[in-house]
Amino acid sequence: MSEPINKSRRRAAIATAAVPGVVLGGAIVAPLVTSMTPSERAKAAGAPVEVDISNIKPGEKLNVEWRGKVVWVMKRTPEQIASLGTIPASQLIDADSKGSEQPGYVDKKTRSITPDLVVMEGVCTHLGCSPVAKLTPGELGNDWQGGFYCPCHGSKFDVAGRVFTGSPAPKNLAVPPHKIDGTRLVIGLSQDGKEA
Ligand code: FES
Repeated sequence: MSEPINKSRRRAAIATAAVPGVVLGGAIVAPLVTSMTPSERAKAAGAPVEVDISNIKPGEKLNVEWRGKVVWVMKRTPEQIASLGTIPASQLIDADSKGSEQPGYVDKKTRSITPDLVVMEGVCTHLGCSPVAKLTPGELGNDWQGGFYCPCHGSKFDVAGRVFTGSPAPKNLAVPPHKIDGTRLVIGLSQDGKEA
């Protein structure tokens, strides 16, 4: 079940940045700190965020706040994973994500540690608007296989956050450092457990 993110929602996310471990849409997340002084709260705002990923169903996307940004945690369906292999590199601005932000340990094509679970910032790399989910094939034209659309200036991204040619966004959606440990995802830690 996808959930579009709009600009007002993004502003709300940023407004709650001082409270760590906030989840914006139906996720189970462990708050890392419960009672803090202002300085502790500021420090914790940049702290890793832990997400329970045991209940995400294929096709669902959670919106998690990390460092004042909306981060999408999405479990792709087998069809969505397969669609990534059918998009010609010529239709993508940065097919191998060489010029885009993502950790070296994620797969270059799926942009994820495991093929199904993708973690990426829901922030357009053009001017920072919040793209909305357009996950139904055909929703944006006959050759549309599902992905994300930025309503501000029309950038289009696939289900790995790779930006299509003709979009004003110059880079793929950023993949933040993250670590998957069974049913636990930690955003803000690299795969070796170091804080990023
Ligand atoms: S901010 Fe997304 S296309 Fe301009």
